[in-house]
Amino acid sequence: MSPVPARRLLLGTALCATIAGLSAALADNFDLPTKRTDLTPADAQRVADVTRPTTDFSKAEQYEAMQAGGATSIDPVTQNSFSHISATIPFEEEQPFKLGNALFKKLWVSAPSSTQASDGLGPLFNARSCMSCHINDGRGKPPEGGVSATSMFLRLARPANTADEERAIANAEIVNFPDPVYGQQLQDLAVPGLPSEGKIKITYTDEPVTLAGGETVSLRRPTYAVINPGYGPLDPTTTISPRVAPAMIGLGLIEAIPEADILAHADPDDKDGDGIHGKAAIVRDHRTGKIALGRFGWKAQNASVRDQSADAFANDIGISTPDRPDAHGDCTDAQTKCKAMPTGVQKRLGNEEAPGPILDLVTFYSANLAVPARRKASFPETLKGKQVFYESGCTACHVPKYVTRRDSLEKAQSFQLIWPYSDFLLHDMGDDLADGQQVGLASGREWRTPPLWGIGLTKTVSGHSFFLHDGRARNLTEAILWHGGEAQKSRDAFASLPADSRQALITFLESL
Ligand code: HEC
Ligand code: HEC
Repeated sequence: MSPVPARRLLLGTALCATIAGLSAALADNFDLPTKRTDLTPADAQRVADVTRPTTDFSKAEQYEAMQAGGATSIDPVTQNSFSHISATIPFEEEQPFKLGNALFKKLWVSAPSSTQASDGLGPLFNARSCMSCHINDGRGKPPEGGVSATSMFLRLARPANTADEERAIANAEIVNFPDPVYGQQLQDLAVPGLPSEGKIKITYTDEPVTLAGGETVSLRRPTYAVINPGYGPLDPTTTISPRVAPAMIGLGLIEAIPEADILAHADPDDKDGDGIHGKAAIVRDHRTGKIALGRFGWKAQNASVRDQSADAFANDIGISTPDRPDAHGDCTDAQTKCKAMPTGVQKRLGNEEAPGPILDLVTFYSANLAVPARRKASFPETLKGKQVFYESGCTACHVPKYVTRRDSLEKAQSFQLIWPYSDFLLHDMGDDLADGQQVGLASGREWRTPPLWGIGLTKTVSGHSFFLHDGRARNLTEAILWHGGEAQKSRDAFASLPADSRQALITFLESL
């Protein structure tokens, strides 16, 4: 079997408990900073003051409409609202951003081809460009009406089988084990001459929910299956985890939040007894192999935009980069025909299908897409909804604000007051949302709190309003009603609010 990159795992229940305990231990052992070192005492005080949750809902807070600080885009709202450059990027860096944009949109072709600098697609792949999933730099959606699932895919993983495998997980060397034949992900497309791995079949059943005041909402519960498997049955121990593509805005700022400020919200043993745990995802940086805090992906399995981008090139498009150098992408040794396909490596350009400078440009672009300014942040209805959001316990996980590090390598991301509404930690979200797939320290019931900034522009930018990791929610109300586990109390608080307060909360979310 090819070396397993540190991505996902599935564990038996006994091991899960061990792993949960290890999360805290790992953070200590590996010295993740629990205190900011980038601030003078005076600055530290200013940061503490400005990030303290508000108790005054009579007016908007200072700067809250500029939700990504100086990097916020104030361009008029259009379908391109997620595609603007962060406002803090200096003029001389606009060119690399534009080149990165072109590469993000670029359609890769199969090798060999006459356009040699664009080939190397696959052999197995889910899409030919980054943009086909991150529609207009926004989020993807589940397939509708039997159409192929472009912007959604299934992750595949099996449990650890041996003591060595368990140790590798505990040491964060590996986050999961792929299906022995299908690998880490179901690629529903393949280059000519090669069978694809199969298609996702989703079946929804409707379940009515009654809210206070008698309003009923129908939730659609999905079940997933793989149809037309191209390489025989999946391993019986392989679990499938459906994922839609998240929006691309503000990612460099998320990377610039100090570890200490995220870890400050972690409470894996629920010492304060509020029912909210919050567990840090401990992963390794791909290039340095050093322990790092996972922040990206629905299970926070990647520490940096670069790591996530290199994984996307490898698994989603089948393009090798210096960080993921296998030109055959997610082909396993069992897929012999796939392994024998020609690659797009051009020795005169480098050892990979997408050499270093390409990954650099795509990463730069991905990190610097601006978060749009809020709309109607100071309207009375919005402020009422904001108060409901705080009083319903949403901020226990959707933590409103941070100040990014002063010593950020990218000046454009340095020392900004930002409002992502996330703690970037893992939470048990209950049976209904559970996918049963372990990813590093994240159990099969845990998900990373997603940032909420920009969520009100989903329809405008991506043309739909499907939410949650698999797009099962058709609007914001459904997204909230699916919350369970640690968020059950909060969900119930929402369901028992009077209709006008529920509407105010939605208005607040739409202003983000
Ligand atoms: C086939 C669809 C697809 C393609 C193509 C794709 N992505 Fe993604 N992207 C996703 C999905 C799904 C996720 C969530 C992954 C997860 O949770 O494991 C994601 C997550 C991300 C994230 C993390 C965002 C966050 O908020 O955590 C980044 C960054 C990203 N992709 C960049 C890229 C880049 C760069 C490319 C092109 C090289 C690309 N993606 C191509 C589907 C895709
Ligand atoms: C215990 C932590 C927790 C609490 C409390 C919580 N959330 Fe969430 N929220 C999450 C997680 C984790 C997800 C992602 C779940 C998934 O995709 O399966 C999520 C997803 C969402 C989404 C969809 C985001 C997206 O990008 O698709 C919305 C909207 C949302 N929450 C709003 C709220 C509101 C409003 C409240 C209060 C009524 C609330 N949440 C309370 C953790 C929490």
